[in-house]
Amino acid sequence: MKIAIGCDHGGFPLKETALLVVMKAGHEILDLGTYTADSVDYPDYARAVGEAIQQGKAERGILICGSGVGACVAANKMKNIRAGLCHDTYSAHQAVEHDDINVLCLGARIIGIELAKDIIAAFLNAKFTNEERHVRRVGKVKEMEERR
Ligand code: RB5
Repeated sequence: MKIAIGCDHGGFPLKETALLVVMKAGHEILDLGTYTADSVDYPDYARAVGEAIQQGKAERGILICGSGVGACVAANKMKNIRAGLCHDTYSAHQAVEHDDINVLCLGARIIGIELAKDIIAAFLNAKFTNEERHVRRVGKVKEMEERR
């Protein structure tokens, strides 16, 4: 898969780890910044990752900010983006399998590097089950997006 990765300054300390995990797992990376520890605005990076997915330049994304919350809120404002804040491995795979998330959000100030590696691996290895009940539920979420 091609994975778009974006972070703000709060997420920057975890970005290199994320890049390495994705690369070692054999995926292609679209690195959308930020590239330094200077203060920036997380919505700009959520938008960049979301647009890469919307435009078919990436299949999934990883967004990292300080808590993961701001990036997640911003990404979920975008059409066809389903972002999940996952700070445990169960959520990271179940969110893909059941909820069809296409963006994983992480908080670099919340979790350590080793847990982050496992969470990213769980997200990358998971696939949407396509089971009827999950398709129906994701469909209802999409309907809500259409009605906005
Ligand atoms: C930046 O200080 C911080 O507010 C941001 O990275 C993020 O945690 C927002 O949710």
